[in-house]
Amino acid sequence: TSEPLVLGIETSCDETGVGIVRGHTLLADAVASSVDEHARFGGVVPEVASRAHLEAMVPTIQRALEQAGVKASDLDGIAVTSGPGLAGALLVGVAAAKAYAYALGKPLYGVNHLASHICVDQLEHGALPEPTMALLVSGGHSSLLLAPDITSDVRPLGATIDDAAGEAFDKVARLLGLGFPGGPAIDRHAREGDPTAIGFPRGLTGPRDPVYDFSFSGLKTAVARWVEARKRAGEPVPVADVSASFQEAVVDVLTRKAVRACRDNGVDHLMIGGGVAANSRLRALAEERCAAAGIVLRVPRPKLCTDNGAMVAALGAEMVARNRAPSALDLSADSSLPV
Ligand code: KG4
Ligand code: ZN
Repeated sequence: TSEPLVLGIETSCDETGVGIVRGHTLLADAVASSVDEHARFGGVVPEVASRAHLEAMVPTIQRALEQAGVKASDLDGIAVTSGPGLAGALLVGVAAAKAYAYALGKPLYGVNHLASHICVDQLEHGALPEPTMALLVSGGHSSLLLAPDITSDVRPLGATIDDAAGEAFDKVARLLGLGFPGGPAIDRHAREGDPTAIGFPRGLTGPRDPVYDFSFSGLKTAVARWVEARKRAGEPVPVADVSASFQEAVVDVLTRKAVRACRDNGVDHLMIGGGVAANSRLRALAEERCAAAGIVLRVPRPKLCTDNGAMVAALGAEMVARNRAPSALDLSADSSLPV
């Protein structure tokens, strides 16, 4: 029997993603992004995102089918992100997936966005060992997840209690005048800076703090105060040093807690996903700390870390391979879907 051929649709935020996989093999990864339309607002505008998804949906599906060189009639299933995410944006993907599944007579699989961020690594490094520990860090979420079964049992151990890690990067980038999205810009400037120049706070790392939760809003405020003080004193803001010191504070906490979660739960594999996983310092420090702790680190290439359709297809293919029940055709989008 051949491996399942699945098309996946992702519209939880500002990327219209359509991917096609056969088992663990990536065949197509088409993405249309509305990020440029949001840039002047400094963040994603839900109404703008929904409209952009609507316009991009059908052409992106067609592009993916062409890229993969497969016929829609040969698919073994259609997978779609049913949540969590922006309600209106999710709805466009779910409606499209239902229409294609119904018209083609194919099973429909509604999948969780966070679980698919983890599952995408199968396209890069092969079958995920179970259990796997996952650190998901993006503009919308920052979570530590323990996954004994990627298709049916993903347990949240901790999450941010305020801003997501990517959100903190974006906000700090904005106050440094670096534009949106801010993560890549901070990453770039940080390479020229000294990560020990300024001692920014590490949120929730005190002895009485929750072990697996994160907090980044205090850090963002500390950076804002530091920058304001500089400006008030009439001194130039050392953008490289601020970027490097801020970035170090974020990735220090992320990697420390992820390694701790692995150790506490006897898990020897850590995967890092989400847009912030593209961060070069996060990758380097995770590499270093995992090696020291005897943990195998798995981080997909940046294009698979940010939102895309291939990750949805990867989880859909896993559901087909494990004979999981398809979703009913009345599947609805759930903006706050838990894992
Ligand atoms: O996963 P993603 O594409 O979308 C969601 O938020 O779901 O993640 C986008 C986030 C943005 O906040 C962006 O600033 C951040 O990921 N990001 C980075 C880097 N590249 C993207 N943050 C830090 N360093 C990077 N190199
Ligand atoms: Zn995401």
